Amino acid sequence: DTMRAFLRDLPKCEHHLHLEGTLEPDLLFPLAKRNGIELPAHFPQTVEALEDRYSRFKDLQDFLDFYYIGTNVLLKEEDFFDLAWAYFQRAHSQGLRHAEVFFDPQSHTTRGVSLETVTSGFRSACARAEEELHVTSKLIMCLLRHTPVEECMATLTDAQRMFEAGELHGLGLDSAEKPFPPELFVECYERARSFHPELRLTAHAGEEGGADYIHNALDLLQVSRVDHGVNAAHDAELMERLARDQTMLTVCPLSNVRLQVVQDVGELPLQKFLDAGVPFSLNSDDPAYFGGYILDNYVAVHQRFGWDAATWARVARQAINGSWCEEKRKNDLL
Ligand code: HPA
Ligand code: ZN
Repeated sequence: DTMRAFLRDLPKCEHHLHLEGTLEPDLLFPLAKRNGIELPAHFPQTVEALEDRYSRFKDLQDFLDFYYIGTNVLLKEEDFFDLAWAYFQRAHSQGLRHAEVFFDPQSHTTRGVSLETVTSGFRSACARAEEELHVTSKLIMCLLRHTPVEECMATLTDAQRMFEAGELHGLGLDSAEKPFPPELFVECYERARSFHPELRLTAHAGEEGGADYIHNALDLLQVSRVDHGVNAAHDAELMERLARDQTMLTVCPLSNVRLQVVQDVGELPLQKFLDAGVPFSLNSDDPAYFGGYILDNYVAVHQRFGWDAATWARVARQAINGSWCEEKRKNDLL
């Protein structure tokens, strides 16, 4: 319809996308076979059964249990390339222009896959996306907050050269929010900041965790944006702070419904953020698991909020302005 076409043609930027979360069931099973990986006995055995299970996640942890089984089928550089390239093509067909994408090195290095293998595959896909699709991108390495801090520090050491070379653009923090609050990772973020003056910092906060997680990510980790962050709406003082500092929240509507953060997209505080001047972007998080890519998230929001064209242009502009790309690229997108 015309609204979908309008939303498709908006210049869209995505800032909350886990590359491992783009593993579609129809790639998961062939990769498991290609790499001789045996899936657990309880794991659904067909694409249909798996998709059905994905539509019934109880909460974040229930999803993560599946997500980490999925990552186990990724072994070789070409697996990482195939994964990311499939994402870029799909998102490009939905009007994606720029993406800042997460990956979880620890979910691979603990299985004996080197960081170099992972990033080489991803970087090749990013280069091809820029060349062939004119989609620009940045890689953000995430630390798994359910793992010991010493392991996270070792992962940072492993990645230091890549941060110094600008091959990795930012640091993030993901996996189970509770009971792993931001304050556990102060040392990790300090270390990362020492690698490069322009290294960008973000963290998942305020999806499961309360507004205090967001305050602590800002104060203690010194992040310049917040992933999810929807629980900021419960804290008036925090809302003022986010608006004053123009700190962007990377909101993930379909993810929030699938993981039962809200029961319906209409419950998200998006109008409240707009009215208060709190910038946000709309993102797909783990599209293979949550039933939609970036445009599907825009459409779902439109179905509930029914914004006019000027408001949608403002939402798209906020996402461009909150991107970590060069000013020149931002101006091209605006
Ligand atoms: N939240 C936390 N950790 C994650 C997510 C998420 O949405 N996706 C992949 N790892
Ligand atoms: Zn996420």
